[in-house]
Amino acid sequence: MTRPQHFGWFLARGFGPHGWGHDYLDWGYDWTRPDLYQQSARTLEQAGFDLLVIEDAPSLGSAETIDLRVRHAFGGPKHDPLLLAPYLFAATAHLGVVPTVNPAASLPYTAARQFATLQHLSAGRFGLNVVTDTGSARHFGTAEPLGHDAAYDRAEEWLGAVRSLWRSWDDGALIADPVSGRYADGTRMQPVSHRGEYYAFDGPLNAIPFPAGEPVIVSPGGSGRGLGFAGANSDVQLAISPLDEASIRSYRARIHDAAVARGRRPSDVTILFALQPVLVDSPEEADRIVAASRTPDDAALRRIAQRQSSDLETDLTALDLDAPLDVSVFADHVSHGSIRRLIGDHDETASLRTILAAHARAGRLRDGSGMVGTADEFADLIEELASWGNDGVLLWGDLHPVTVHRTLDRLVPILRRRGLLRDGYVDGGLRANLAAF
Ligand SMILES: Cc1cc2nc3c(=O)[nH]c(=O)nc-3n(C[C@H](O)[C@H](O)[C@H](O)COP(=O)(O)O)c2cc1C
Repeated sequence: MTRPQHFGWFLARGFGPHGWGHDYLDWGYDWTRPDLYQQSARTLEQAGFDLLVIEDAPSLGSAETIDLRVRHAFGGPKHDPLLLAPYLFAATAHLGVVPTVNPAASLPYTAARQFATLQHLSAGRFGLNVVTDTGSARHFGTAEPLGHDAAYDRAEEWLGAVRSLWRSWDDGALIADPVSGRYADGTRMQPVSHRGEYYAFDGPLNAIPFPAGEPVIVSPGGSGRGLGFAGANSDVQLAISPLDEASIRSYRARIHDAAVARGRRPSDVTILFALQPVLVDSPEEADRIVAASRTPDDAALRRIAQRQSSDLETDLTALDLDAPLDVSVFADHVSHGSIRRLIGDHDETASLRTILAAHARAGRLRDGSGMVGTADEFADLIEELASWGNDGVLLWGDLHPVTVHRTLDRLVPILRRRGLLRDGYVDGGLRANLAAF
């Protein structure tokens, strides 16, 4: 019997203009109102998902390229997902809600207090996706962004500080006894005096202990330092990896080794591999979509260019599709890894059309060449991952009811029948449900 898997949904465009650029915009939801997200979150809960993770980036990027980021709403606007969380908790009873949080943007005491409040309000269903992007440093009073590894060091110190504040109350400090009239015992509180490299402050925190345990810590970093952070600190790691057995096992082993090195157990970290399936009704339809993707029309290429222009902060839509791509168009600050991912295996003679067409190319789930297939084929993949020891998957997309139903309507019954998807929740919130199998 296959072990059930944990399922997460990643709202990849963040709390932003949902449906923009898609025809389902005409369903008429307003992305600034909670209804769109509440309806979708209820469906995820009905499906048995463990958690919803909400992407975030607090910045619109550099002043010169703001138009590229907002023109097609790929990079902004975005509202703060932390403040969406209470609306989603009000609409659901079991689903975990995990907004993205960057330690650069909030001091430990404020963060610990806000997260403690949300953990209580949700009866233990709150988590935070800790990211270390430094591009927004100037918005938070820092002229020079930290380097990559230093940002992780700061995140570890921040999280340690937040946790020490959450642990301000010793067992027995909270009495709440109406007979004696005593609410709490102040002599059983930890003072918390933090003097670190990045933060200095005093506690204790004026919130009360958590009946359902501390908020769940999620992390998505994929570098060596990122995997080390996950092993040391995270309850859930969001992973991107090739989906062959050797890659999956090696990714999991690296996190597990990092966990053991920090005195934790491998099973303390639930690893969810991110996938973006395109589910269709029949193998024939999947074949047709894959075949059509080999000859993308100009509109399809333009859409890819728009997204890449936002991510790379460089206007690819203004370039000649049929001329070779000159890499000097990219300013120095643009990530070399992102440029390499755009260009792939092509050499300097390749036209922009050829490069973008490679990004349009779809493949079949059935033969491992891509993500287009039927719900049965996708369930086969999840079952195969499970047989290699996997804990679960993170489905990547927007959070529109149309997308959620399109992805889940056929898939959920198939996964349930195969014993891969839970058919009910245990009490105790997100932490208890992650530990349930
Ligand atoms: C599933 C997933 C979700 C992510 N969500 C965010 C996010 O919301 N905000 C963000 O700034 N970065 C996000 N990232 C990027 C990571 O934080 C990180 O920058 C990236 O994975 C590179 O990792 P590294 O810096 O350890 O190399 C995400 C990455 C993955 C795989």
